[in-house]
Amino acid sequence: MQAIYYSMTDLYGNKDSFEVIYPELFNEKKYIENKKLNNNKIKINQIDSIKLDNVSFSYKDKKNLNKININFKQNQKIGIIGKSGSGKSTLIDLILGFIQPSEGKIQINTRSIENLSLNNIRENIGFVPQNIFLFNDTIEKNISLDKKIDEQIISQLSNICLLSDFLETNKIDISNDKIGNYGKMLSGGQRQRVGIARALYNKPKILILDEATNALDSLNQNKIISNIIEYTNVNIVILITHNTNLLKDFDKIIVLDDGNIVAEGTFKNLEKENNLFNQLKKNFDNN
Ligand SMILES: Nc1ncnc2c1ncn2[C@@H]1O[C@H](COP(=O)(O)OP(=O)(O)OP(=O)(O)O)[C@@H](O)[C@H]1O
Ligand SMILES: [Mg+2]
Repeated sequence: MQAIYYSMTDLYGNKDSFEVIYPELFNEKKYIENKKLNNNKIKINQIDSIKLDNVSFSYKDKKNLNKININFKQNQKIGIIGKSGSGKSTLIDLILGFIQPSEGKIQINTRSIENLSLNNIRENIGFVPQNIFLFNDTIEKNISLDKKIDEQIISQLSNICLLSDFLETNKIDISNDKIGNYGKMLSGGQRQRVGIARALYNKPKILILDEATNALDSLNQNKIISNIIEYTNVNIVILITHNTNLLKDFDKIIVLDDGNIVAEGTFKNLEKENNLFNQLKKNFDNN
């Protein structure tokens, strides 16, 4: 009963998004047609760049994103910041093909996203959502999901994502101990670390973190991000965060406000000249 109530609350909370995905989920005919369509689409081996060209997304006459231009290139760490509701997660939903632009184009490796297989894109992008869903099985299974368990990768990821710290202290066996429904036997920060390890299991070149480390202290957030840069194949990082301090050595920070890009630059530049950046930084630092 608790589980049903939990899911219902989740659905009500995300009613707007649910209205968009409902037809996809329950229109079986369309789903099969889409699947057939997807099979005919181009598959790529790795993602080298993602370009948003004048992309807008509207829902019920409200423009949630307005004429967005961004070019994500190799060996770049990009931060995205903005108030709650400014459109950060919507931007990611567009890149992952969960929603389609109302205007403009998205290109992956210079090919239009419309011609690419969405399953293939999602296999090539490591994505950690704002809310990570863990199920009642071992941590190892929660990381590998339906793929074969490779103990060497699991052990590497356990170090990179700082899982080993809490596994040892709490005497949790990564291969044998179940973590309860929704991972309820773990803390919020521990769940997030498992979520990041899951996103890295496929060895993606591009990693998107949507406020995926906010339950961890700043020191460990920084440590995980630098571990990812140093020890994995990831060469494009897109980090959505309210913690601007994580973005000090990032190549670019994009500031979103009410669906518009209102500023972009490095931490130092924005600190010097952008009011909204400084306001967001102050809000976070004072909390
Ligand atoms: N799939 C969707 N369909 C329609 N509207 C949506 C969808 N997803 C989000 N929205 C709306 O778009 C706006 C931007 O939401 P979004 O989730 O992108 O904000 P955000 O910047 O990620 O905020 P937060 O920091 O709270 O996570 C909100 O007004 C939200 O209600
Ligand atoms: Mg969001």
